Amino acid sequence: MSNKQLKGRIKRRTVLEGICAASAVVPGLAGAQVPDPETLTPPQANDVLVHSYGDEAGNVIGIDELDTDSKQIFAWAMDPVSGILRNGTRLNQVVLVRVGPDRLSDETAVRSINGLVAYSGVCSHTGCDVTDWNDEFLRFQCPCHESQFDPADGARVVGGPAPWQLAALPLKDVDGHVGVAGEFEGRVGFPQPGLSPFGI
Ligand code: FES
Repeated sequence: MSNKQLKGRIKRRTVLEGICAASAVVPGLAGAQVPDPETLTPPQANDVLVHSYGDEAGNVIGIDELDTDSKQIFAWAMDPVSGILRNGTRLNQVVLVRVGPDRLSDETAVRSINGLVAYSGVCSHTGCDVTDWNDEFLRFQCPCHESQFDPADGARVVGGPAPWQLAALPLKDVDGHVGVAGEFEGRVGFPQPGLSPFGI
Protein backbone atom coordinates (compact mmCIF):
# COMPACT_ATOMS: atom_id res chain seq x y z
CA MET A 1 0.00 0.00 0.00
CA SER A 2 1.39 3.41 -0.96
CA ASN A 3 1.94 6.24 1.44
CA LYS A 4 -0.79 8.17 -0.39
CA GLN A 5 -3.31 5.37 0.09
CA LEU A 6 -2.41 5.07 3.76
CA LYS A 7 -2.76 8.80 4.26
CA GLY A 8 -6.14 8.79 2.53
CA ARG A 9 -7.38 6.22 5.01
CA ILE A 10 -6.20 8.36 7.88
CA LYS A 11 -8.06 11.38 6.50
CA ARG A 12 -11.29 9.39 6.12
CA ARG A 13 -10.83 8.13 9.64
CA THR A 14 -10.28 11.66 10.95
CA VAL A 15 -13.54 12.84 9.35
CA LEU A 16 -15.49 10.01 10.93
CA GLU A 17 -13.92 10.67 14.31
CA GLY A 18 -14.82 14.34 13.97
CA ILE A 19 -18.45 13.42 13.29
CA CYS A 20 -18.53 11.16 16.34
CA ALA A 21 -16.89 13.80 18.55
CA ALA A 22 -19.37 16.44 17.39
CA SER A 23 -22.38 14.22 17.99
CA ALA A 24 -21.13 13.53 21.50
CA VAL A 25 -21.63 17.15 22.47
CA VAL A 26 -24.71 18.11 20.45
CA PRO A 27 -28.00 17.37 22.25
CA GLY A 28 -30.25 15.10 20.28
CA LEU A 29 -27.49 13.27 18.44
CA ALA A 30 -27.45 10.05 20.41
CA GLY A 31 -25.79 6.74 19.80
CA ALA A 32 -22.41 7.85 18.46
CA GLN A 33 -20.48 8.06 21.71
CA VAL A 34 -19.12 4.56 21.88
CA PRO A 35 -15.35 4.75 21.38
CA ASP A 36 -13.94 2.41 18.81
CA PRO A 37 -12.06 -0.19 20.88
CA GLU A 38 -9.55 -0.54 18.08
CA THR A 39 -8.26 2.97 18.82
CA LEU A 40 -7.58 1.87 22.40
CA THR A 41 -5.76 -1.29 21.38
CA PRO A 42 -1.97 -0.99 21.84
CA PRO A 43 0.23 -1.19 18.74
CA GLN A 44 -0.06 -4.58 17.08
CA ALA A 45 2.18 -6.66 14.84
CA ASN A 46 1.97 -5.52 11.20
CA ASP A 47 0.79 -2.01 12.11
CA VAL A 48 2.75 0.88 10.60
CA LEU A 49 3.89 4.00 12.46
CA VAL A 50 2.67 7.45 11.42
CA HIS A 51 3.74 10.90 12.56
CA SER A 52 1.50 12.18 15.33
CA TYR A 53 2.50 15.87 15.35
CA GLY A 54 3.48 18.71 13.07
CA ASP A 55 3.26 19.17 9.32
CA GLU A 56 3.87 15.46 8.80
CA ALA A 57 1.03 14.34 11.10
CA GLY A 58 -0.72 11.37 9.57
CA ASN A 59 2.10 10.46 7.19
CA VAL A 60 3.54 6.99 7.38
CA ILE A 61 7.16 7.08 8.53
CA GLY A 62 9.80 5.80 6.15
CA ILE A 63 12.66 3.71 7.50
CA ASP A 64 15.23 6.16 6.07
CA GLU A 65 13.47 9.28 7.26
CA LEU A 66 15.13 10.04 10.60
CA ASP A 67 18.67 11.33 11.12
CA THR A 68 20.96 9.30 13.34
CA ASP A 69 21.19 10.42 16.97
CA SER A 70 18.71 13.26 16.46
CA LYS A 71 15.80 14.08 18.75
CA GLN A 72 13.00 11.55 18.93
CA ILE A 73 9.70 11.97 17.13
CA PHE A 74 6.26 10.94 18.38
CA ALA A 75 4.14 8.46 16.47
CA TRP A 76 0.93 6.47 16.53
CA ALA A 77 0.46 2.96 15.24
CA MET A 78 -2.03 2.43 12.43
CA ASP A 79 -3.65 -0.74 11.09
CA PRO A 80 -2.73 -0.49 7.39
CA VAL A 81 -5.75 -2.56 6.34
CA SER A 82 -8.54 -0.74 8.18
CA GLY A 83 -6.75 2.62 8.47
CA ILE A 84 -7.59 2.71 12.18
CA LEU A 85 -5.25 4.87 14.22
CA ARG A 86 -4.54 3.52 17.68
CA ASN A 87 -4.74 6.97 19.22
CA GLY A 88 -7.58 6.43 21.69
CA THR A 89 -5.26 6.66 24.68
CA ARG A 90 -1.98 8.46 25.22
CA LEU A 91 -0.62 5.23 26.66
CA ASN A 92 -0.33 4.14 23.01
CA GLN A 93 2.10 6.95 22.19
CA VAL A 94 5.38 5.87 20.66
CA VAL A 95 8.74 7.66 20.56
CA LEU A 96 11.00 6.81 17.65
CA VAL A 97 14.69 7.58 17.23
CA ARG A 98 17.57 6.41 15.07
CA VAL A 99 20.62 5.19 16.97
CA GLY A 100 24.01 4.58 15.42
CA PRO A 101 24.18 0.81 14.87
CA ASP A 102 27.50 0.49 16.70
CA ARG A 103 25.88 1.77 19.89
CA LEU A 104 22.92 -0.61 20.08
CA SER A 105 22.99 -3.27 22.77
CA ASP A 106 22.46 -6.80 21.46
CA GLU A 107 18.97 -7.00 22.94
CA THR A 108 17.98 -3.64 21.50
CA ALA A 109 19.43 -4.43 18.07
CA VAL A 110 17.05 -7.40 17.78
CA ARG A 111 14.06 -5.04 18.10
CA SER A 112 15.45 -2.42 15.71
CA ILE A 113 15.20 -1.81 11.99
CA ASN A 114 17.84 0.20 10.17
CA GLY A 115 19.03 1.68 13.48
CA LEU A 116 15.50 2.78 14.45
CA VAL A 117 14.23 1.93 17.91
CA ALA A 118 10.81 2.65 19.41
CA TYR A 119 9.48 2.91 22.94
CA SER A 120 6.47 4.02 24.89
CA GLY A 121 6.38 7.82 25.01
CA VAL A 122 4.98 7.88 28.54
CA CYS A 123 7.45 8.35 31.39
CA SER A 124 7.40 5.63 34.06
CA HIS A 125 7.68 8.16 36.88
CA THR A 126 4.39 10.07 36.86
CA GLY A 127 3.40 9.81 33.24
CA CYS A 128 4.63 12.89 31.41
CA ASP A 129 5.38 12.69 27.71
CA VAL A 130 9.08 12.04 27.14
CA THR A 131 9.54 14.99 24.82
CA ASP A 132 13.09 16.16 25.51
CA TRP A 133 16.38 14.94 24.10
CA ASN A 134 19.78 15.17 25.77
CA ASP A 135 22.13 16.06 22.91
CA GLU A 136 25.28 15.53 24.93
CA PHE A 137 24.59 11.95 26.00
CA LEU A 138 22.07 11.03 23.24
CA ARG A 139 19.28 10.10 25.64
CA PHE A 140 15.58 10.67 26.03
CA GLN A 141 14.88 13.14 28.81
CA CYS A 142 11.59 13.71 30.58
CA PRO A 143 10.74 17.41 30.96
CA CYS A 144 8.91 16.96 34.28
CA HIS A 145 11.61 15.64 36.65
CA GLU A 146 14.52 15.01 34.26
CA SER A 147 14.54 11.25 34.20
CA GLN A 148 16.78 10.01 31.39
CA PHE A 149 16.50 6.84 29.31
CA ASP A 150 19.12 5.31 27.01
CA PRO A 151 17.50 4.40 23.67
CA ALA A 152 20.54 2.37 22.63
CA ASP A 153 20.13 0.05 25.58
CA GLY A 154 16.46 -0.78 26.03
CA ALA A 155 15.59 2.71 27.27
CA ARG A 156 16.99 1.76 30.66
CA VAL A 157 16.90 4.50 33.29
CA VAL A 158 20.20 6.38 33.42
CA GLY A 159 19.13 9.33 35.54
CA GLY A 160 16.28 10.77 37.56
CA PRO A 161 13.45 9.21 39.55
CA ALA A 162 11.84 6.97 36.91
CA PRO A 163 11.39 3.48 38.43
CA TRP A 164 11.74 1.40 35.25
CA GLN A 165 12.71 1.58 31.60
CA LEU A 166 10.32 2.65 28.86
CA ALA A 167 8.45 -0.26 27.31
CA ALA A 168 10.05 -1.27 24.01
CA LEU A 169 8.19 -1.67 20.72
CA PRO A 170 9.82 -4.12 18.28
CA LEU A 171 10.05 -2.86 14.71
CA LYS A 172 10.27 -4.28 11.22
CA ASP A 173 10.38 -3.07 7.62
CA VAL A 174 6.96 -2.92 5.96
CA ASP A 175 7.51 -1.97 2.31
CA GLY A 176 10.07 0.65 3.27
CA HIS A 177 7.94 2.01 6.10
CA VAL A 178 8.44 1.64 9.84
CA GLY A 179 6.31 -1.32 10.87
CA VAL A 180 5.51 -2.93 14.20
CA ALA A 181 6.86 -6.43 14.79
CA GLY A 182 5.03 -7.13 18.05
CA GLU A 183 3.35 -5.62 21.09
CA PHE A 184 5.08 -3.47 23.71
CA GLU A 185 7.65 -5.40 25.73
CA GLY A 186 7.71 -4.27 29.35
CA ARG A 187 5.38 -2.15 31.39
CA VAL A 188 3.61 0.83 29.82
CA GLY A 189 2.64 3.66 32.16
CA PHE A 190 3.61 4.59 35.67
CA PRO A 191 2.98 3.36 39.21
CA GLN A 192 0.70 6.04 40.67
CA PRO A 193 -1.89 7.25 38.16
CA GLY A 194 -3.28 9.71 40.70
CA LEU A 195 -0.10 11.73 40.39
CA SER A 196 -0.34 12.12 36.64
CA PRO A 197 -0.68 15.70 35.45
CA PHE A 198 -3.00 14.32 32.77
CA GLY A 199 -5.43 12.54 35.07
CA ILE A 200 -5.01 9.04 33.67
S1 FES B 1 7.23 12.24 35.05
FE1 FES B 1 9.10 11.86 34.01
S2 FES B 1 10.63 12.24 35.48
FE2 FES B 1 8.78 12.57 36.53
